[in-house]
Amino acid sequence: MKYEVGTVILSAGAGTRMNLSLPKPLAPFLGKCLVDYPLSQSIKMMNIVAKEKSFTGLVTGHGKELVEDYINENYKNHKISYAFQAEQLGTAHALKCYFDQIEDARNCEYTLVMCADTPLIESDSLELLYNEIKSNNLDGVAATFKVDNPKGYGRIIRSKSKGFHIVEEKDANEEERQVLEVNSGMYVLKTSFILDHLYSIGSENKSGEFYLTDLFKDDFNVSPILFENPSSFIGVNNLEQLERSEILMRKRIISSLREKGVRFVDSRHTYVNTDNIGERTFIHPNVSIDHQSIIGKNVTIEPGSIIINSTIEDGVTVKAYSHLEEVTLRSKSVVGPYARLRPGADIGEESKIGNFVEIKKSKLDRGVKVSHLSYVGDAEIGEETNIGCGFITCNYDGANKHKTKIGKKSFIGSDSQTIAPVNIGDECFVASGSTVTHDMNDGSFAISRSKQVTKEAMAKRFLKSK
Ligand code: UD1
Ligand code: MG
Repeated sequence: MKYEVGTVILSAGAGTRMNLSLPKPLAPFLGKCLVDYPLSQSIKMMNIVAKEKSFTGLVTGHGKELVEDYINENYKNHKISYAFQAEQLGTAHALKCYFDQIEDARNCEYTLVMCADTPLIESDSLELLYNEIKSNNLDGVAATFKVDNPKGYGRIIRSKSKGFHIVEEKDANEEERQVLEVNSGMYVLKTSFILDHLYSIGSENKSGEFYLTDLFKDDFNVSPILFENPSSFIGVNNLEQLERSEILMRKRIISSLREKGVRFVDSRHTYVNTDNIGERTFIHPNVSIDHQSIIGKNVTIEPGSIIINSTIEDGVTVKAYSHLEEVTLRSKSVVGPYARLRPGADIGEESKIGNFVEIKKSKLDRGVKVSHLSYVGDAEIGEETNIGCGFITCNYDGANKHKTKIGKKSFIGSDSQTIAPVNIGDECFVASGSTVTHDMNDGSFAISRSKQVTKEAMAKRFLKSK
């Protein structure tokens, strides 16, 4: 055989019960998509048990182009083949499409069948399934689990002999419905066994669909493998299951972070989707961190802050209600409260960004201070420069964006603005209320506000109370 294991992920369903505009495999899940989870876990498992002798295929249908483009874009290092199921006639029909359209599918000793809608599955469970079929020389195994409410799942009916069969919810009688052991939709089967039986599966059931579950019969050499942890196998067919699965996955991430020494004030109200957080970092409630962000050690993130695709180095403090997207905060910098850092903001070591400051596409060197109510865009600011309150880089002339450069150890007085493009040198001083339109050499002083006129005793003309 060319391959030891081939994985097929059934992903053609419309997911009508989800009521989404996207095909179900692309339903957003912790910042990624539903299909990413079974796919990455199967790749992980196959790398362990079969190394190069493994193969991955996907059956697509609804939103075929969208699903395939997404996978091709995100799994560039893996060869993934696709089969198309034009009409969703059932899971057995989907598997037929896989074997009919992908030649290598038949060149695998074992076939792992997975559904795109089981995001909590872990590679360890898949490895265990594979070891069970091999060590007991079975033709097929199905991963099963027990639930309090089995509604919607196929019920596992164990026989007195060695095999078992599966009855779908719709076809189950009263007694069968009481069975709490259910089918996960995850199977490892000998490929030769599938090819012997798949093509004789019919659609004589309440749904009129070709059920893959009909591969399992009481007198076959097949066995259900009961797993202890039911949450790994939750199938996502509606928005309630989607939400529940996301919460469970996040809990998993949070427990592993806690083991590493990340402290949460109240993890129930913390939305952390990355496991890339260093030890002794302290996360307050209502913080959101997406799956692409990387957070260092000894970082404090105060309540209500939102962090998207950003890198935060060791010892940083993000004060309450700050919004960070595609930014870098270098070590020991302090940001917020209420800071808005937009894509391309690179905040230097030990710099301080205060309240109501917006920074976009700008590089601030070490020890820069922008403490209050400022906008800094398309700028470079040298180390230890102090920017006063209410400063604005006027970077946009209505058609183009221009750059502002400010050297090191300069002082920009409050309520000033720079009209880009403009360069201010090192150790410069701009007086409060100035508009800087011309370049300034190192060490120079600029003031551009108009002279004050004071008229004695004239205020009463303008005051209402005379
Ligand atoms: C299926 C199982 C059920 C099991 C449950 C676990 C069958 C008949 N039933 O039911 O025993 O308890 O999963 O979650 O297999 N798909 C296709 N083409 C089709 C139909 C489905 O590719 O024609 C794909 C779907 O996209 C999905 C997967 O197969 O990823 C399972 O289909 P779904 O409709 O979710 O089946 P369930 O009703 O959940
Ligand atoms: Mg399902």
